[in-house]
Amino acid sequence: MAIRKAIFPVAGLGTRFLPATKSIPKEMMPVVDKPLVQYAVEEAKNAGIEEFIFVVSANKDAIVKHFGVSASLERALQDAGKSSLVASIRDCQLETSATHFIIQEHALGLGHAIWCARHLIDSEPFAVILPDDLVLSAIPCLKQMVSVHGEQGGNLLAVMDVHRQHTGRYGILIPGKVHNRLIEVKGLVEKPKPLEAPSQLAIIGRYILQPQVLNQLGIQQRDVNGEIQLTDAMASLLGETTFYGFRFEGKRYDCGDKVGFLEANMAYALAREELQEDVAAAVLRVAHSIEST
Ligand code: UTP
Repeated sequence: MAIRKAIFPVAGLGTRFLPATKSIPKEMMPVVDKPLVQYAVEEAKNAGIEEFIFVVSANKDAIVKHFGVSASLERALQDAGKSSLVASIRDCQLETSATHFIIQEHALGLGHAIWCARHLIDSEPFAVILPDDLVLSAIPCLKQMVSVHGEQGGNLLAVMDVHRQHTGRYGILIPGKVHNRLIEVKGLVEKPKPLEAPSQLAIIGRYILQPQVLNQLGIQQRDVNGEIQLTDAMASLLGETTFYGFRFEGKRYDCGDKVGFLEANMAYALAREELQEDVAAAVLRVAHSIEST
């Protein structure tokens, strides 16, 4: 079945980036010159997504504005003869009929954020993209997943190998049979301590989910922090519906983390032909200045 809808949960508090995220949502922070959430939308469009569902917190109107029409800015740029910039801001606009903004009143976790969008998902599988995970790859990550999902069906979770000392940051797979890039999921553990982790296969922010997950989220118990976790809801459905891990092709950057965010800025700038040389020189300058201190 085609994947037509994507949910973008962007209602988190972004505490690791305070004070920057006091008034600006984390997902509006730019990597080079585009906000994280725009990369996510472009990836979704590239994968054939037609409906864009943003789960926002009450004070995230910056995201609403970013995808809307900005008539006065367009006029000012037009008057200044900057038509290529006009095109670049028009590129961010989303059709209002294909775009939904749902408010998550309280940040009760990723699972709760997805559940808030349940009324907009019917009986079809849907994608979830966490904009703070960027994946730099020849074929965009969600497009790879849509193509595999077309053959395989079920629920598909993007996974990657992480260092054992980092398992406590992720949902971790208990893996079953492996077939090329696909890994059967036998179990899921949310944020296990390194020594208790059943594997080093971690779920990152790309999912294709069946609608049963939404029903499960509706009855899922809160965790010790009072949050409703997506991983726990998916774990409860194992045996009832099939989950696969998908080892995507590409390099993932965790932009919810300071170092990951800075690394993403360098990698995405270096991937741009017009910036490559100057940015490479700047990176070397910084590295040399550190060495000589
Ligand atoms: P994170 O786990 O990175 O949490 O959320 P966070 O609040 O954004 O950031 P920190 O940890 O406080 O720095 C992963 C994704 O889930 C969304 C976030 O916006 C992000 O895209 N999320 C998280 C919600 O939409 N609602 C929530 O209640 C929690």
